[in-house]
Amino acid sequence: MENVETKKRVFSAIQPSGMLTLGNYLGALKNWTLMQDEFDCLYAVADLHAITVRQEPAKLREQIRSTFALLLAVGVDPEKSPVFLQSHVAEHSQLAWLLNCYTQYGELQRMTQFKDKSQKHADNINAGLFTYPTLMAADILLYQADLVPIGQDQKQHLELTRNIAERFNMTYSPTFTIPEPYIPKVCARVMSLQDPTKKMSKSDENVNSWIAILDKPDDIIRKVKRAVTDSEACVRYGEGKEGVNNLMSIYSACTGATYEQIEAEFAGKGYGDFKAAVGEAIVETLRPVQERYNQIITDKAYLEELYAKGADSARHIARKTVAKVMRKIGYV
Ligand code: TYM
Repeated sequence: MENVETKKRVFSAIQPSGMLTLGNYLGALKNWTLMQDEFDCLYAVADLHAITVRQEPAKLREQIRSTFALLLAVGVDPEKSPVFLQSHVAEHSQLAWLLNCYTQYGELQRMTQFKDKSQKHADNINAGLFTYPTLMAADILLYQADLVPIGQDQKQHLELTRNIAERFNMTYSPTFTIPEPYIPKVCARVMSLQDPTKKMSKSDENVNSWIAILDKPDDIIRKVKRAVTDSEACVRYGEGKEGVNNLMSIYSACTGATYEQIEAEFAGKGYGDFKAAVGEAIVETLRPVQERYNQIITDKAYLEELYAKGADSARHIARKTVAKVMRKIGYV
């Protein structure tokens, strides 16, 4: 019998804007690495997405390199999963344009990330910021992805991607695979340590509100110690306890303990003991990542070799999709 490739396709990407956070790691990157054996994965640094806000050239270059190295450090294995820079595969821009013409103004206007970012960058509400989700749809649809590992905040963009794909398929004939989000049960939305009603984000000006994957152990311990909790002084998961809930979910993701086990472990103890344990658990989770990162980041030749290899593999698939899409639309 013919040996048919049956593994499902996985695609995801991450922006190279600044330091990556514990939220990026627990919400998305951890799954990227866990999915590699079961699925046929491709991962990208979304460097085209990064310029919807102003970037300083030298800094952007550094951040792209650092983000790529960090993907390898968290455990993305380029032998199993091609990793590449979005800007190296021109088909992303090409398909994004085509999909723009199958995306409604009103749909883009409803995107909460657009609303948030246009408030934050009121002096630069560029067309790229507005059409950002169609570029993201192109990223996913180019590879005919079945599953997209993301955190909760990207779910709306994935729903739009599905709508665009379905619309195109209906207008012509089946062309795109309709992708499903793959969101972790715990830590789908890691919250700010200073305001646990807000998402942990690297763009938060208060550095105590977020933990970078590359933060030093002392800084991690200190930030967790300062995390906002409540006055109940009881480690339990519940309503009105957003700060404690957030720390419990981080602890659960880092140690594998269930909420019941965490409540039992800290029964009768105060938040001081709990926060110390959460800090340690994060440090231990990130330690091997930081060690690998420090080895990889200095090896420029190795990184460059991987950029090229990853982009070649990606391009091979992306070209076929673009050719198919153009044929369906009616290009000569
Ligand atoms: P980005 O770069 O903001 O974030 C990368 C991934 O990290 C997740 N994430 C979080 N998860 C849990 N808690 C948090 N506090 C947290 N912060 C971030 C995000 O959900 C995301 O999965 N538009 C995307 C990048 C992108 C993309 C794609 C993703 C471009 N093309 C195609 C998937 C498929 C973004 O800005 O993610």
